[in-house]
Amino acid sequence: MRAALYKQLGSIENIVVEDIASPSAMAGEVVVSVKAAGIAFPDVLTAQGKYQYKPELPFSPGYEFAGVVKEVGEGVTQFKPGDGVLGRGHQGCREELAVNAKQVWKIPAGMDFGVAAGFGMNYATTYHALKDRAEIKPGETLLVLGASGGVGLAAVELGKMIGARVIACASTREKLDTCARFGADELVNYESQDLRAEIKRITGGRGVDVCYDPVGDKYAEPAVRSMAWGGRYLVIGFAAGEIPKIPLNLVLLKGCALVGVFWGDFARREPEKGYRNTEELIRLVAEGKLKPLISAKYPLERTGEALADLLTRKVQGKVVVTVRH
Ligand SMILES: NC(=O)c1ccc[n+]([C@@H]2O[C@H](COP(=O)([O-])OP(=O)(O)OC[C@H]3O[C@@H](n4cnc5c(N)ncnc54)[C@H](OP(=O)(O)O)[C@@H]3O)[C@@H](O)[C@H]2O)c1
Repeated sequence: MRAALYKQLGSIENIVVEDIASPSAMAGEVVVSVKAAGIAFPDVLTAQGKYQYKPELPFSPGYEFAGVVKEVGEGVTQFKPGDGVLGRGHQGCREELAVNAKQVWKIPAGMDFGVAAGFGMNYATTYHALKDRAEIKPGETLLVLGASGGVGLAAVELGKMIGARVIACASTREKLDTCARFGADELVNYESQDLRAEIKRITGGRGVDVCYDPVGDKYAEPAVRSMAWGGRYLVIGFAAGEIPKIPLNLVLLKGCALVGVFWGDFARREPEKGYRNTEELIRLVAEGKLKPLISAKYPLERTGEALADLLTRKVQGKVVVTVRH
């Protein structure tokens, strides 16, 4: 079977496509014939050797995937060959994948495999962040940085679904238009406008109740300075590179909280809650209440290009690799 692989860490240019042996299902596992794999910023960081998780090599990108169950291992009763599934666990960019059955969910018949492969991680991270960590309430103001990106657009859509007033920030007009299509109430171009002044204007000087920050770097401090009394600042990631250093007096003065979000560890430490969250999200997508944006599809041979487009800020929503037709 074919697989996109990196054999050494350091650069996304190290990705090659090669034939490797097919897996078989061990006890508690399913083998999935992969149709599509979702690519996200953690894939870029992993390939560069900058992610908190250092994989054993060779390794395939694609932290999430969708496909059809080919084989079930001993003890697996909830799936059978032919079931359409989505899953997490690593290495989606290979034609067959053996994964723990607890990291796999059934998908409704007819759900597009690209969509199924592309919403799980972003929406589950964001659902956990907004619901479990920030405990956001209808009517609160939600500031989203990097709002047209993978997790960012999920925050815009889920924030609106929960009833928040959403202020979306991005770097271009085109990206902001996408945020508006997903329901954002207010738009700020944080490259050409003064982020703090704009938030002050939009909130009448009150500040925001919740900030969702997957970007970090120079964008973080003005956002912390824009928190309302009792606000919650969600630390999601650092796509812009630098991990910001925030003066803690700001947190004191605003009576606000800096709240860490680490979806992967949450799902490991609280597997049942994590599993239920994803089941709920699958239902919301199937009912058409959430409409995740898959902005580009790449064939397996061009997996490296998908990562390069993320790295150079060309992507909106999610990109997926089509592994098998
Ligand atoms: N905490 C968790 O559990 C968790 C889970 C998933 C992802 N993450 C993290 O969340 C972050 C975003 O992931 P994602 O998959 O949503 O990425 P993405 O789709 O590439 O979105 C990142 C956004 O950041 C903005 N950005 C600003 N400066 C950038 C730069 N120098 N390079 C790239 N992007 C830049 C871009 O928007 P503009 O051009 O509009 O600025 C882009 O839309 C990553 O750090 C990832 O590791 C965390």
